[in-house]
Amino acid sequence: MDELVENLDAAKAQEKLEKVTSLCKRRGFIFPSAEIYGGFRSTYDYGPLGVQMLRNVKDQWWKTMVQFRDDVVGLDAAILSPPAIWAASGHLETFTDPLVDCKKCQGRWREDKINGVCPTCGSTTFTEPRAFNLMFKTQAGPVEGDGATAYLRPETAQGMFTNFSNVLNTMRKKPPFGIAQIGKSFRNEITPGNYVFRTREFEQMEMEFFVPPEDAETWYRYWVEERFNWYLDLGIHPDHLRKNEAAPEDLAHYSRGTTDIEFLFPWGFDELEGVANRGDFDLSAHAAASGERLEYFDQGLNIRYTPFVIEPAAGATRAMMAFLLDAYDEEDLDGDVRSVLRLDPRLAPVQVAVLPLSKKPELEEPARKVLRALQSVFRCDFDTTQSIGKRYRRQDEIGTPWCVTVDFDSLDDHAVTVRDRDSMEQQRIAIDQLVATLVASVQR
Ligand code: GAP
Repeated sequence: MDELVENLDAAKAQEKLEKVTSLCKRRGFIFPSAEIYGGFRSTYDYGPLGVQMLRNVKDQWWKTMVQFRDDVVGLDAAILSPPAIWAASGHLETFTDPLVDCKKCQGRWREDKINGVCPTCGSTTFTEPRAFNLMFKTQAGPVEGDGATAYLRPETAQGMFTNFSNVLNTMRKKPPFGIAQIGKSFRNEITPGNYVFRTREFEQMEMEFFVPPEDAETWYRYWVEERFNWYLDLGIHPDHLRKNEAAPEDLAHYSRGTTDIEFLFPWGFDELEGVANRGDFDLSAHAAASGERLEYFDQGLNIRYTPFVIEPAAGATRAMMAFLLDAYDEEDLDGDVRSVLRLDPRLAPVQVAVLPLSKKPELEEPARKVLRALQSVFRCDFDTTQSIGKRYRRQDEIGTPWCVTVDFDSLDDHAVTVRDRDSMEQQRIAIDQLVATLVASVQR
């Protein structure tokens, strides 16, 4: 019986993933990349609504991690980087996956992901595992050879370590302080998949927080809580989020403690973000390799030390997928199913849709005036096509929290009807109160 329920739940979860994937394509959130050429290996393009939503996720991260704090500053480092960085960081040697080939069908797999059985043909005979480095290697400039080798960064983190002194010297910071960065990273994943969960090109949101070594444990616990609460605050259901602290024997070579923040994806709990206490591994490794001193001199205490690093490392594209999955809902309205994305207004690509009840110029013109007033504060849509019911449904499906309808009464009472996405309740609001009323409903 339990197994039956589990199978049913798994099938439902899979169906939800398919529904969200289809909605994302149909409504302009996420398209398979290079689709007119048959697509390209688990790469995706973010359409008009997707690019906006992804930007909202990143903006919310930037606001909580940089703007609302006085101990974190921003950075945007280069994606192309010399081998020296990745030699020092350990990526050239250890950023590898064990790769095996199926002897029967020649399928190539990550050994640790297949439990000894080929997912294509079921065979159990494989070649010996080989270490496959996940970094994309390229060359900078017109001359080939060792001197020209460059890598696309597989994480944004190293930019913060290599700029540690630059930031320290220019920003008059002292530990505890952090450097934050959002940007693309690239990994030649052997088994990308599960939609945008694991792709070869993705966006990260990482922060390196430099602290006195004796305070590292306290800051590590602090950042686990902060980051966990960030997802809850933006609407992830508490039952769908958990912390998973790695056992000491499972820690990465640089880590003194790692807690993954996991979301209940359709295939089970899986990593959204990792928070790690990296000790002095990174600064010490780059100091040794570059010959530069990467330390902090505390004048008050007259001591020089290498700060420890606490790193909350999140995926922007992966977080967006979690927010989409958690927001997707279907509601039965007397036999008619309403699909709705219950996104937090801060994440919704469109916050307010202005919908004149008719296409007649005497309504469109005042409706555009309402639109212009709203546009200075909100992300807006303006739609005159189809019946008002169909327009509401379209906005529900893309997660728009409010629809503002301008009707013929508006010409006399100077008021509009505001429909709430979640309750579907409608309220008449004076046009001159509209912006203030909606502003009060959105957290910043
Ligand atoms: N600097 C540490 C670091 O990069 P990570 O756990 O490898 O740690 C951090 O990556 C986050 O980046 C992950 O929790 C995930 O959200 C995201 N991420 C990593 N690889 C990804 C991939 N192939 N596709 C999408 N997101 C990825």
